[in-house]
Amino acid sequence: MEFLKEIERRRTFGIISHPDAGKTTLTEKLLLYGGAIQEAGAVKSNKIKKGATSDFMEIERQRGISVTTSVLAFNYQNKKINILDTPGHKDFAEDTFRTLTAVDSVIVVIDVAKGVEEQTEKLVEVCRMRKIPIIVFINKLDREGKDVFELLDELETKLSLRVTPLSFPIGMGYSFKGIYNVWEQKTQILESNDKQKIASAIAYESLEDEGLKKVLGDQSITELRESLELVEGIYPAFNKEEYLEGNLQPVFFGSALNNFGVQELLDCFIQIAPAPLPKLTDKRIIKPNESAFSGFVFKIHANMDPKHRDRLAFIKIVSGTFKRNTPYLHVRHKKKLKFSSPNAFFAEKKEVVDESFPGDIVGLHDTGNFKIGDTLTSGEEIQYKGIPSFSPEHFRFINNADPMKSKQLNKGIEQLMDEGVAQLFTLNLNGRKVIGTVGALQFEVIQYRLEQEYTAKCSFESLNVHKACWISTEDEQNESYCDFLKVKQKFLAKDKQGQTVYLADSAFSLQMAQQKYPEIIFHFTSEFD
Ligand code: G4P
Repeated sequence: MEFLKEIERRRTFGIISHPDAGKTTLTEKLLLYGGAIQEAGAVKSNKIKKGATSDFMEIERQRGISVTTSVLAFNYQNKKINILDTPGHKDFAEDTFRTLTAVDSVIVVIDVAKGVEEQTEKLVEVCRMRKIPIIVFINKLDREGKDVFELLDELETKLSLRVTPLSFPIGMGYSFKGIYNVWEQKTQILESNDKQKIASAIAYESLEDEGLKKVLGDQSITELRESLELVEGIYPAFNKEEYLEGNLQPVFFGSALNNFGVQELLDCFIQIAPAPLPKLTDKRIIKPNESAFSGFVFKIHANMDPKHRDRLAFIKIVSGTFKRNTPYLHVRHKKKLKFSSPNAFFAEKKEVVDESFPGDIVGLHDTGNFKIGDTLTSGEEIQYKGIPSFSPEHFRFINNADPMKSKQLNKGIEQLMDEGVAQLFTLNLNGRKVIGTVGALQFEVIQYRLEQEYTAKCSFESLNVHKACWISTEDEQNESYCDFLKVKQKFLAKDKQGQTVYLADSAFSLQMAQQKYPEIIFHFTSEFD
């Protein structure tokens, strides 16, 4: 059956890393193997340049690029591969967390010299919590870096991964000669490294090969053999089931810039990485092979043209076939919508498509109907779960700086929040609006976009908040809960869904509140049962 085949051949994943580890370079090389681009340098980097934190034009330029790089799709050995782009900049970490709700697996890129870095730790933790299958790619082997075993140790201790190397480097830096492919049990020796094209390599089937001995020398071969014995002795053997359950993480080594080790990674990836997975809703688990269409919005991208306030909502298809010009139920609004020009993504282009399958991402033009987390179905009233908001790090009051434009300001704030740029909290006491963001950069983005797209002016005022906690209790009539609401009145707000949030002003007051009110549960994400 064609439909089942289409599902089976899809691989939808994300590449995550600390900035500069080589995510963009690896993405580009994967596209090169897929024949989706002919030359390196074709994929524009959408990372915010270092030191550009107050450069609005830079942010705008990024927004322009990131529509086309949001989903990069290509075919490789009859598999349809969808790479979902994740911003590396830490101020956009929430964007990345949301994108991770739409991937079926991830590849983590690590710089051989720097090892595990801060952003990697945070992102991998989210993946581990969700049991997303992870493959690790240790990059920049053409440079001197940490000892291989030390790095593998770091992956275990800092990232709590259970690793199994599926490739092993021969030398490093100046003496980097190639890779032993544990997966296929053969050796690839780097022959020439044209950074723009696919590097040429010679493959040797056996470590006994005379040609290989000539290239590497007896000493290198003995060292390699010893290392491989050590690998076999220390690390668990690869097991696909364990990888798919998120309990075992294969590791590859290479140099994305030199195209080395990338094909091994890709060849193994398409064999082991999962096809689209089932997903949980508030009512039941939906399987990709169900015939009724369903999907959810994980990203909204505002149009670059301020005159036309249309946006592109990115939907991950979970089940069924999505068809053009077919009415689908917008579950939150309880209304049917149809889409005449759904966009599909291919390499760096987007084009109108008639049908898309589970695992695919479609971009729907939207004039303000969607917000992140919305579910679209053939008719069933279900809501996909697993797209929570986390407590922001920075909080400021937002004030209207042009009284004539309060309508525009409110509209602008509402739409930017739907896009997930930041979170809005309304204080219970006086209705003042508080904006919470992951990074300080977002305040500038908000101010700039409100002015450019909504002709509204705003100013921010600092506010001392340590953390936002969503609160719940078994019994809302409970005396202790009522006491909390009274005592903490000044610090209580509603989020955009109307849920009650406690804006704790310090770690100490949060701790005190947790101790004093054991009947109240303080949640650190917006989604709880
Ligand atoms: P990111 O998306 O994870 O932030 O990283 P990106 O691919 O942009 O790579 C960051 C820098 O590391 C780039 O250098 C890139 O060329 C370099 N790089 C990536 N892979 C390798 C590798 O295998 N070996 C070596 N030696 N370098 C690698 P840059 O100077 O910051 O940028 P550019 O001027 O080269 O574009």
